[in-house]
Amino acid sequence: MAKNKKEIPVYMMIFTVSSLLLMGMLLFQVYEAIAPPRIGGALPIEERGNLLAIPAMLEDLDPDPMKAFYELDVQHGQMEFFPGVITDTMGYNGNFLGPVLRVKKGQEVQIQVNNQLELPTTAHWHGLDVDGPNDGGPHQGIMPGESWTANFSVDQPAATIWYHPHFHHTTGNQVYHGLAGLIYIEDEESEDLNIPKTYGENDIPLVIQDRNFKRDGNFHYKLANIGLEPGEVLLVNGTPDPYVELNRELVRLRVLNGSNFENFDLTLSNGNAFYQIASDGGFLEAPVKMDSLFLTPGERAEILVDLSEVTDEHLALLIGKDVVLDIYLSGDPRAAAEIPEALVTVEDIPVGENPTTRTFVLESEGIDGTINGKEFDMDRIDKVVPKGETELWVIRTTERSRPRPGHPFHVHGTQFQIVSRDGNPPPPEEAGFKDTIFVANGEEVVIKVLFHKEGLFMYHCHMLEHEEQGMMGQFMVEDMD
Ligand code: C2O
Ligand code: CU
Ligand code: CU
Repeated sequence: MAKNKKEIPVYMMIFTVSSLLLMGMLLFQVYEAIAPPRIGGALPIEERGNLLAIPAMLEDLDPDPMKAFYELDVQHGQMEFFPGVITDTMGYNGNFLGPVLRVKKGQEVQIQVNNQLELPTTAHWHGLDVDGPNDGGPHQGIMPGESWTANFSVDQPAATIWYHPHFHHTTGNQVYHGLAGLIYIEDEESEDLNIPKTYGENDIPLVIQDRNFKRDGNFHYKLANIGLEPGEVLLVNGTPDPYVELNRELVRLRVLNGSNFENFDLTLSNGNAFYQIASDGGFLEAPVKMDSLFLTPGERAEILVDLSEVTDEHLALLIGKDVVLDIYLSGDPRAAAEIPEALVTVEDIPVGENPTTRTFVLESEGIDGTINGKEFDMDRIDKVVPKGETELWVIRTTERSRPRPGHPFHVHGTQFQIVSRDGNPPPPEEAGFKDTIFVANGEEVVIKVLFHKEGLFMYHCHMLEHEEQGMMGQFMVEDMD
């Protein structure tokens, strides 16, 4: 017996034991990667998921307060979303997503974008009132190793806007790999409002994205007949299974639906209501009380959540039954916070006597799509629009677009307002400035658009795979006086 035992070499035993351990770990990781997100309920501290990443606030390199200079390096990177599993990614100034750029109304801004990728890219400022050449659309390609500098003045009210690539046929893939970031526009009103403003503490960005992973740990960017498969994993600011610890106080969440293809409907696990204070293009006139927040790809909303009176230790932000973000509370419960009654005056976009009316019909067949029956053509200008003259745009989707529930329609270079949805005035949370709207199948939405700056711009479905498969058009804004 003793002899037999000696015949099993120690290294074999170590090998066997460690392979078993390794296999276990791998299985666990695979399980982790494919496990559906967990539903709420207070968990002991050691079982918390991952601390929510808060994007860095990028340093403005121009000392002049009326100017800002930012530098963005677009780079390949790697992330360890799951322990021991490496995912190839892309990011701005880092491995995944990008920093927050803060600009002020009235500032002259320069953003230098250095493309360190092995692929062409662009940097588009989604929601910015900017001229065509500085919009960063498909025509402003930045080749590998090259730089491009956008120059613009900030001529719009405070808002949470964002940036992402727009190089035709690679947009969806590059965003999926991590290229996206937020821009905060501030102005005197946003600074004077009595709302939470401490970045990362009670003023928190939430970039929500769904992702699929392959067995080897890399993103599974899989195009299917119907478009893009919904992701099995939700990332918030690039963090899977994220949690935050927040004080029992009024908290402001700046939410971006940064997914390529999926609509999100957010609720709180305790059923509490919250208040939407801003839409894509800035503050609403007054907070709007709601108990769910619907965001289509590209849309943003700022909400106030009052945690003051919550006695539970834990709650969660949910999409259906899936946990998006676990929230652990600290500090003692206290009296409810004061929600401001009014926020700002939203300037109504003026409409002239006989405004030009244009119709846009969105239609998709699986992943392929058209606008007004045409697929996108980089060499075709679909509309010529006069600068400084408000037009009515009628956006329609047809029943043919099933199985998708509808399309997010986005216009570059401006912030517009909704006139009507199927003949009815927009709900209060959609009565402010918008740059992306959801248009349900069979619905008709009328918007009023006014362009202040000249150049070539895009309008498109913001389901990025639809955009790339044809649901995009371009218009030239010209000074016709
Ligand atoms: Cu988010 Cu064409 O843009
Ligand atoms: Cu855009
Ligand atoms: Cu679409």
